[in-house]
Amino acid sequence: KRHLISAADLTRDDAVLILDTAEEMARVADRPIKKLPTLRGRTVVNLFFEDSTRTRISFEAAAKRLSADVINFSAKGSSVSKGESLKDTALTLEAMGADAVVIRHHASGAPYRLANSGWIDGAVVNAGDGTHEHPTQALLDAFTMRRRLVGRDAGIGQDLSGRRITIVGDILHSRVARSNVHLLTTLGAEVTLVAPPTLVPVGVGNWPCEVSYDLDAVLPKSDAVMMLRVQRERMNAAFFPTEREYSRRYGLDGDRMAKMPEHAVVMHPGPMNRGMEITAEVADSDRCTAVEQVANGVSTRMAVLYLLLGGSEPAVTTTARTEE
Ligand code: CP
Repeated sequence: KRHLISAADLTRDDAVLILDTAEEMARVADRPIKKLPTLRGRTVVNLFFEDSTRTRISFEAAAKRLSADVINFSAKGSSVSKGESLKDTALTLEAMGADAVVIRHHASGAPYRLANSGWIDGAVVNAGDGTHEHPTQALLDAFTMRRRLVGRDAGIGQDLSGRRITIVGDILHSRVARSNVHLLTTLGAEVTLVAPPTLVPVGVGNWPCEVSYDLDAVLPKSDAVMMLRVQRERMNAAFFPTEREYSRRYGLDGDRMAKMPEHAVVMHPGPMNRGMEITAEVADSDRCTAVEQVANGVSTRMAVLYLLLGGSEPAVTTTARTEE
């Protein structure tokens, strides 16, 4: 495959290959010298039209650990603010020889447009488009769950069959939820969405998951509980219950976390609204994988870049061993 636009495009075997490759990459990250020469001479452009901390930095770290040259482009401070179009921006990047463009855009569908426009020859990776998808977030989430619920070594070659994953909060505006529902069900997990009725998308009945409005009833049956940020910037006030009401019914605090099975983990893609969807007590607890997810994001994005750009190069394990 040349691009990564949607988690829905991945087969079970594609997804397991990415997770297994990410484990190989994580072994490199554990070594004193964290670099592989695999993408030497290649150029990765991070094209960000929307703010980001984790995704942008981890794609930069991932590309650098594979020895690629990295160009960071932020719409703020660029000629986009003078009205330059996506097409002219893309043609400019093409002229600079981009082998891969990692794009975050406020418009759903922008990465698909870029991949199918003919404006650029390189691989396109969706780093989050509007309320549509964020496939590398879902991959790093699945990687984190596989490690925690199946095991680091035991997980190789395995999927998430039979694992029960609960995703809680602002599903309506969440590209993370959409990508996770696709990927986790492809990997054999059972997904339940929990949200206020106003934050559940129309058409969710066609998604391969259950919907519940009762968080307390679902928690004891969950192996992982993923809390989502309430995206106030994307919503009309009429959509939203009061903050107090939201936290009371859908927030995760220590008492609620105690209802989860002992082995179950709490996840959050970040950024977190502490005190809203998750209390500081839960966010800072050993059961919360938020920081681990960020670290896993680098290995997972290394795997994606390697598989898209470096497929004809020596296998990762071989390369890693040669460097030892
Ligand atoms: N999880 C995530 O996409 O975070 P950023 O918006 O900081 O990239």
